Amino acid sequence: MTTTQKFAYDDLYSERSEAAPARTVAHAKYDFAVAYPAPETLPMYGMIDALKAKVDSDGEQVAREMAYYPHALGSPELREYTSEKLKADRDIDVDADGIVLTAGSGEANGLLIQAITNPGDVVLTEQFVYGGTLSQLGKFKADVVGSPVDEQGLIPGALEDTIKRLTADGRRPKWLYTIPESQNPMGSTLPEARRREILEICHRYSMPILEDDCYVDLRFEGEAQPAFRTLDDSGIVMYVASFSKLIAPGLRMGYFVAPPELMERALSFKLGSGPNQFAAYAITGFLKEGLQRHRDTFNPVLKQKSDAMQKGLSEHFGGSGATWSKPQGGCYAWLTMPEGADISAIRDEVFDGGVGYLAGTNFAPNGDGQNMARLCFAFETPEKNFDGIALLAQLFRKHGVM
Ligand SMILES: Cc1ncc(COP(=O)(O)O)c(C=O)c1O
Repeated sequence: MTTTQKFAYDDLYSERSEAAPARTVAHAKYDFAVAYPAPETLPMYGMIDALKAKVDSDGEQVAREMAYYPHALGSPELREYTSEKLKADRDIDVDADGIVLTAGSGEANGLLIQAITNPGDVVLTEQFVYGGTLSQLGKFKADVVGSPVDEQGLIPGALEDTIKRLTADGRRPKWLYTIPESQNPMGSTLPEARRREILEICHRYSMPILEDDCYVDLRFEGEAQPAFRTLDDSGIVMYVASFSKLIAPGLRMGYFVAPPELMERALSFKLGSGPNQFAAYAITGFLKEGLQRHRDTFNPVLKQKSDAMQKGLSEHFGGSGATWSKPQGGCYAWLTMPEGADISAIRDEVFDGGVGYLAGTNFAPNGDGQNMARLCFAFETPEKNFDGIALLAQLFRKHGVM
């Protein structure tokens, strides 16, 4: 049956629903706005070979598992592998049943946020922090407050001052979200001593920490610092990580580690079954064979790209009063223009001129960041990173912010 009259849902929508049009991402000629790892290092054939090897060697098991819905915690083999990886890379002791695989770390964050957040709860984050988590916290009506940072990340003394100030105002913070390795958007890595101090503070105020370790494998200089979860296994730390930045966001595979009761609470918000079993075979097989080789492939590429952007910044922004971070890993540099240079207001014009970036305001729970921007160095080629920064300086001058 066909009918020309459109069915009207207007009076039927649930109270909690809101219009959320699917976003299409527009790409500028020089695209520093994205959050992708280096696309040319995506190991497609490595993963296909791993899948084929798995089907060839364990065909019956694959047929059985693919015919059923995945385990609620996700593929047992990938959880086993993740347990070994966490021990080897982060010295975290957790067995496979203490790990929940999720559709990216975005889902992991979302499940944990829901398990511990009521509307109005005060949640602390870095002063500038990943917009995806900010929007999830907004969805669940958290009252998000950014705590001061410097080029090394959260400042422990300022964190305690923030807690005291908010508590005196009747807004006692409930928990802390932080990205301690190669932070998104600032590119900072929090030193071990600060992590230890922050743990002490969080114990003092009974505030759990949601540690988002999404970028830990992306490191081309310096040393990863011990995870909060490594330094403290009391349960105060919820640990989240992902295969998105290590291999590919399109896989949609991440995970979390949390104490058993909290894990169950978080799982109560899960819709549908465990994550994609097919992707799990590819990830497990590929990483078992080639984790180190893969890291040794993409990290030098990231370094070249970061170096090219840094060179562009020195040559074209040096002496202008701008400052920028010099990351040792991850995907992002953080540009700070002098106070009063509103680069959030001219983002669209600069985009039309050929350079995409995300203004600091996208990462700012406290509403600041107008003179700041996140620049992703991981996506474009080194040449484009250099040339795009030159054009950015030109466009900033044209629009009177430099
Ligand atoms: C800090 C951080 N956490 C989580 C995510 C979500 O990534 P995914 O869901 O692909 O694992 C991102 C993506 O950019 C991120 O930067």
